[in-house]
Amino acid sequence: MSIDQSARAALAVRGVRKTYEAGSAAVRALRGVDLTVSDGEFVALMGPSGCGKSTLLHLLAGLDRPDEGTIAVAGTRIEDLGAQRLARLRRRHVGLVFQFFHLIEHMSALENVALAALVAGARPAEATTRARDLLDTLGLLDKSGELPGALSGGQRQRVAIARALANRPTLLLADEPTGALDSDGAAEVLDLFQRLHRAGQTILMVTHDREVADGAQRRVRMRDGRMLADDEPSLVHEIPASLRAGT
Ligand SMILES: Nc1ncnc2c1ncn2[C@@H]1O[C@H](COP(=O)(O)OP(=O)(O)OP(=O)(O)O)[C@@H](O)[C@H]1O
Ligand SMILES: [Mg+2]
Repeated sequence: MSIDQSARAALAVRGVRKTYEAGSAAVRALRGVDLTVSDGEFVALMGPSGCGKSTLLHLLAGLDRPDEGTIAVAGTRIEDLGAQRLARLRRRHVGLVFQFFHLIEHMSALENVALAALVAGARPAEATTRARDLLDTLGLLDKSGELPGALSGGQRQRVAIARALANRPTLLLADEPTGALDSDGAAEVLDLFQRLHRAGQTILMVTHDREVADGAQRRVRMRDGRMLADDEPSLVHEIPASLRAGT
């Protein structure tokens, strides 16, 4: 008897395809992506520019829909959900972190984090408590009242991560979270992800940085809209397409 592992995974992606219509041209961004992320795993997603990493993250976050294939977050299939249920799932089960933080500049660190909880339906007092606890856990309690502009890049990204965690998401998705940071900031953010991972948080992180990827528990790679096998050597990226055998 076989047990369907994907039923219990934090994330199960099967045969996902996505084509963008750009003017008269069609860009086949995803050409049949399969990926399973188990509960509590910390996975780094790598691959050359344009291979479809951000497109995949957008679909997983429910910000866009696949043309074909299935996506299950915490066992719930999201590809056919109506707009309202998708928005609710996005608020409750998915936390998103971007390269450029996207904090609200005129709100304090605490307010930025609390807002995410408020939008998802928490009462103001509960939202504030949760935001304060998160900033405390992330070592930023003394920065609660600061505007984002007064914080270092690494601190800003930690506030953005606190915001992404405000609704205790099943899945934390991060698109090049260290891409805009210097090496100290990147180390700060990686260290935080590793702590969250040890506390049981499931994380899928896109990165171009080999050192950052090495800090994850597992590395997966994409090329030309598809996943490569986990153990496929990365060197293949450096071989020009014209010289590759069998493609
Ligand atoms: N909204 C869009 N309309 C048309 N084409 C798009 C759109 N978004 C992405 N693409 C194209 O889809 C392909 C995949 O893009 P995507 O942004 O997912 O790549 P990526 O792996 O995240 O790249 P990078 O590492 O540079 O961020 C690229 O060819 C890109 O130009
Ligand atoms: Mg991208």
